[in-house]
Amino acid sequence: MVGGCGGLARFIVTAAWPYVNYIPHLGTIIHLISADVYARYLRLRGHEVIYVTGSDEHGTPIELEARRRGVNPRELTDAVHARDVELFREYGIEFSNYTRTESPVHKEFVREFMLKLYENGYIFEQDEVLPYCENDKTFLPDRFVEGTCPYCGYERARGDQCDECGRLLHPTELLNPRCAICGSKPIFKVTRHWYIDLGRVRDRLLEWLRDNRELQDNVREYSLNWVAQGLKPRSVTRDTRWGIEAPFPGAEGKTIYVWFDALLGYISATKEHLESKGRKGEWRDWWMNSDVKTLYFIGKDNIPFHSIILPAMLLASGEPYVLPWRISATEYLLYEGKHFSKSRRIGIWIDEALEIAPGEYWRWILMRLRPELRDQNFTWSEFYRIVNSELGDDIGNYVHRVLTLALRAGGRVPRPEGLEERDVEVLEEAKGLALKAVEAYDSIKLKQAIELILELARLGNRYLNEREPWAIMRRDQVEALKVLWVALFIVKLIAHLIAPVMPRTAERIWRMLGQEGSVMERVWDKELLKAGDFVVTGSEPLFQKLPQDFPERIDYIVEEARARATAKRPKVIAD
Ligand code: MF3
Ligand code: ZN
Repeated sequence: MVGGCGGLARFIVTAAWPYVNYIPHLGTIIHLISADVYARYLRLRGHEVIYVTGSDEHGTPIELEARRRGVNPRELTDAVHARDVELFREYGIEFSNYTRTESPVHKEFVREFMLKLYENGYIFEQDEVLPYCENDKTFLPDRFVEGTCPYCGYERARGDQCDECGRLLHPTELLNPRCAICGSKPIFKVTRHWYIDLGRVRDRLLEWLRDNRELQDNVREYSLNWVAQGLKPRSVTRDTRWGIEAPFPGAEGKTIYVWFDALLGYISATKEHLESKGRKGEWRDWWMNSDVKTLYFIGKDNIPFHSIILPAMLLASGEPYVLPWRISATEYLLYEGKHFSKSRRIGIWIDEALEIAPGEYWRWILMRLRPELRDQNFTWSEFYRIVNSELGDDIGNYVHRVLTLALRAGGRVPRPEGLEERDVEVLEEAKGLALKAVEAYDSIKLKQAIELILELARLGNRYLNEREPWAIMRRDQVEALKVLWVALFIVKLIAHLIAPVMPRTAERIWRMLGQEGSVMERVWDKELLKAGDFVVTGSEPLFQKLPQDFPERIDYIVEEARARATAKRPKVIAD
């Protein structure tokens, strides 16, 4: 009855692991919310879903920040991880497991996995000349060195990647390199490192990139292009102390490069989750079972890691791991036309956002603005419009009107026998929109799903205005109840369809409609387009509108929100 992926299946849904050098900003939480929305959608279709991710604790982003703050990396990550967990809960994100890369299960998994690659002959060692700071007495991997990108000329490119053009870099490629700790010019020194020979999986990688019809075009093209430029070996070790110790013979004192560590977290987090439920060994039946579909919600700068490095590692392991089914990579969210930047203090961080509106509202707003095709600008005037006119008027007002009318009519609105032609027409139009929304969800066009739900609410509003059940009520009670039933049916559709995005609001509507249990238990395929009698039990307003002077006072509001959020931050990052 409802179209889409067909047949029940098992899914592993994941989102990019946030670094815990600081609280995430709005652009980062988009991945976590998207994955949560999709996981809920899949459950509403009756599928079995595991949603895992965690804190990315290692690597130079953390080490640099810890140095800057004068604390141990672990002190920093303990504090930020704990705060993030609280914040994600306030955003209503429900993980099967939100773990961390310092988890013992993860560390052991990474060491064993990397050793396996070594045993399979994919790892070789070689001397390399790398930047070294004589002042700080340390090699300068990845973010420890900054300079000008040789491809696009961006002046603050880092040793591993240019944030401007997205290219992965080698630190020796940077023009005008400087130490990110002290700013001095590094010397170049020889050091030994361990490399993964990506070229050896080239053919199998290409085959997967070409054959997987579920990959977004931009992901496929970008990746094919990458492979075409030659799959050079990449170093998997670093001369740092913070991280997972490299397991290779002779590599004592080196750590695993943060990406090879974090990417494997998708698997170790699944393992940890199932083991904590007493289902030891079952993780293989997920990760090495061709019936299981794996899904990654990430930002565009993470594409090559998920479409090249991760699949290459899985192939090189020699074990039958499932390669990514879909990679949903979004473009950037801009803040009032500019890129989010911690150092320049541009943007809004997720704890600050909660001081302005509840997590439930932000889920809707961020999915409404999800940068699916191009960079998307977040502005406070859009925020104001979405909250007041879309949530407030279109959805909130419609639901409130219908529930209030139904209560006034006694609350009981039985499923009618015969309907007028116009009522049937509206009912069919509503069902059509609902089915389109399901399709949009299925193909991860979450923004479009939201637009269709809004259309549904507007259809309901127009229908009420046209049929005026309050006027009919005075002359024909039976007829008025029929109209109310159609209007309530649309309310029920809205509750069902917003459930992945606004689960708490959906449950509230569900209860006011006198429906039993949780909306999440009602699988769409059986129940989305069905309804019996309604027994309306309440008509509380769903949303609170923002005051009219919100747009004028926004600078002040943001400043106040920042102060309140900062006061709740762990000491190590309370600037
Ligand atoms: N922490 C990385 C970032 O913020 C993302 C890591 S995703 C993983 O860009 F796959 F490596 F886990
Ligand atoms: Zn230095």
